[in-house]
Amino acid sequence: MKTIGILTGGGDCPGLNAAIRAIVRKGANVYDYNILGIKFGWSGLLDGVVEPLTIYSVSGILPKGGTILGISRVDPLASDENIQRVKNNIRKYGIDVLVVMGGIITISKARTLYEEHNIPIICIPKTIDNNIMATDYSIGFDTSVQVVTDAIDRLHTTAESHDRVLVLEVMGGGTGWIATFGGLAGGADLILIPEHKFDIDEVYKLLKKRHNRGKNFSIVVVAEKARPKQDIKVAKRRGIAKALSKLIEKQLGYESRSVVLGHIQRGGTPTAFDRILATRFGLAALELIKEEKFGVMVALQGRNIIPVPLSEIKAIPMPVAEEFYNIAETFFG
Ligand code: F6P
Repeated sequence: MKTIGILTGGGDCPGLNAAIRAIVRKGANVYDYNILGIKFGWSGLLDGVVEPLTIYSVSGILPKGGTILGISRVDPLASDENIQRVKNNIRKYGIDVLVVMGGIITISKARTLYEEHNIPIICIPKTIDNNIMATDYSIGFDTSVQVVTDAIDRLHTTAESHDRVLVLEVMGGGTGWIATFGGLAGGADLILIPEHKFDIDEVYKLLKKRHNRGKNFSIVVVAEKARPKQDIKVAKRRGIAKALSKLIEKQLGYESRSVVLGHIQRGGTPTAFDRILATRFGLAALELIKEEKFGVMVALQGRNIIPVPLSEIKAIPMPVAEEFYNIAETFFG
């Protein structure tokens, strides 16, 4: 009987449980696989913290955010000793294949373990940031975009009532996927992303133009790592919205407020899209296990889920596709 070890690494996101459930439901029921949940990402593999997953233990988890396995950013490659511990525990628990759900960093660690240490691995892309190459969507992105959209809808009414500029800072790591999609769906008047260094004078100009045509409020969505061309002091973590709103108020005299959405956009129940995507990824991983096709990441390309060799997944964030930013730009000002 095959034993599958599942781990979730990096930052959590909504939809992980749907993927775990899919693997366990079909893996245990149809293929009679033995399935082990590895706790807290790579850390559970280093320390041998695992638990059996059964159709009973995954019952009811489909709509739950986060991950029932726990998660961490622990590095399995931090030392030779770590790598040895990973190998020892894989042997000890009789794990035939690891299903690793992760973002860019977790997947790059999985790639090294597969390529340099012959550990059979299949990856499932997950991150609210949606910046893993080769897949149109990663688990969690759609939910975070929905949260951002809801937040903008709420900010709209208060911004409008008070004639204020509201600057909303969203996550996204080094990329502007969440800002672009959330901003577009919420009708943001300006979206600033790390992929394009922005000119603060252009920001002033655009807001002024908008206010001059009678719009006394504005919504600016800014990705956490977006930065101006000018040398402006911004706190390293979660500081850009605050810096921007202060500058806007000072320069233009428009009353401004900043909002940092933070982990709200990573928590809570997954959207239907994320549940279905995660379920499909989980089942696709299972089929690859059956075929013993390892060293791949399942990816959504168009309507299809396909395996992409880990050797093709570079450890660099995929920038937001320009075509989406261009659409969003149409509505600036
Ligand atoms: O990668 C997911 C993400 O939510 C990023 O968007 C964000 O920059 C980072 O993780 C936040 O990490 P932490 O939860 O450790 O603060």
